[in-house]
Amino acid sequence: MTKAIILQPGGGYQNVTVSTREAPAPTAGQITVRLHANSLNYHDFAVVSGMWGPTEPRIPMADGAGEVVAVGAGVTEFKVGDAVVSTFFPTWQAGEPLVEGFATVPGDGVDGYAREIVTASAESFTLAPKGWSHIESSTLTTAALTAWRALMSDDQLTPGDTVLVQGTGGVSLFALQFAKLAGATVIATSSSEAKLEKLKAMGADHLINYKTTPAWGTLVRELTGGRGVDHVVEVGGPATLEQSMLAARVGGHVSVIGILTGLAGDFPLVTALIKQLRLQGVLVGSRSMQQAMIKAIDANGLKPVVDKVFALEEMVQAFQYQETNQHFGKICLQI
Ligand SMILES: NC(=O)c1ccc[n+]([C@@H]2O[C@H](COP(=O)([O-])OP(=O)(O)OC[C@H]3O[C@@H](n4cnc5c(N)ncnc54)[C@H](OP(=O)(O)O)[C@@H]3O)[C@@H](O)[C@H]2O)c1
Repeated sequence: MTKAIILQPGGGYQNVTVSTREAPAPTAGQITVRLHANSLNYHDFAVVSGMWGPTEPRIPMADGAGEVVAVGAGVTEFKVGDAVVSTFFPTWQAGEPLVEGFATVPGDGVDGYAREIVTASAESFTLAPKGWSHIESSTLTTAALTAWRALMSDDQLTPGDTVLVQGTGGVSLFALQFAKLAGATVIATSSSEAKLEKLKAMGADHLINYKTTPAWGTLVRELTGGRGVDHVVEVGGPATLEQSMLAARVGGHVSVIGILTGLAGDFPLVTALIKQLRLQGVLVGSRSMQQAMIKAIDANGLKPVVDKVFALEEMVQAFQYQETNQHFGKICLQI
């Protein structure tokens, strides 16, 4: 048996319990991983807080990192002692998007990684970046891969492109890092002057306070000589989409990623038409995209921004902290 956090049906912080689950030996094609870390995402918050609570008891958390402790027959990709990180879609290995929704996503439709030990298909994990701690690796599964896919798979940034990132959550900071890695100019927004200073220290070229400059789309146009940006990493949702579309260049790419300000709203159809924008809905990415991302991380010595680490048993406090929006980068759990 292994220690696990179990979220009771419906979710809600009052329904987070510490319990135990089976920890079977791996069968053919499986590995057993001693998990050491999770990282929090808005999606995990939605499940745990009850916004999108589960219909049956569920182990939450999509992002898990740890060490391989046993390998089943036929597994050649991993060996005991390897540091690994989970994949968001264990059933989407490569190629075009295959999976609709969250039915196969660990921590949502199936059990996730808020536990000490898991036995799963080898395809549920990839090798972690070389030299990263388990906490650092746990930041990759959801936030980093979403940013990577938006900029490097759905689009292929080239040096000199201009990218807009919004706020200072996990997705946006990885997007800033990957965009700088690709030689892009980055315009970054935040509601906080102190966080804008941190974005500058990370290499952001232009900074905008989206609270004091609500029409920031126009300012982005000015900063780009009237042209607009090549790529917008759109995480705000209904309250930011219009400004994002104004900020994009004619023919620009807007990655539709986040729902921070709600689930639905007005769609500026005419802006989309006259600017001939490419709006691409994004739901994380495939296992092969994760491997490509980790290869780039290994080659460039990139490190994630970890804001704060809580103990596994402090999961509720960790999500309550996330709700305050004080964080800059990733919030993690140590298992
Ligand atoms: N589609 C996908 O595959 C996918 C994957 C991962 C995440 N997401 C979504 O992307 C969003 C961000 O995720 P995350 O994990 O990075 O979240 P997070 O870490 O919780 O991000 C929170 C930050 O977002 C910023 N923010 C809040 N409201 C904003 C607004 N109106 N305009 C600009 N920034 C705003 C704030 O930054 P400041 O404090 O600096 O203002 C806040 O600190 C969420 O909606 C999440 O569900 C989608």
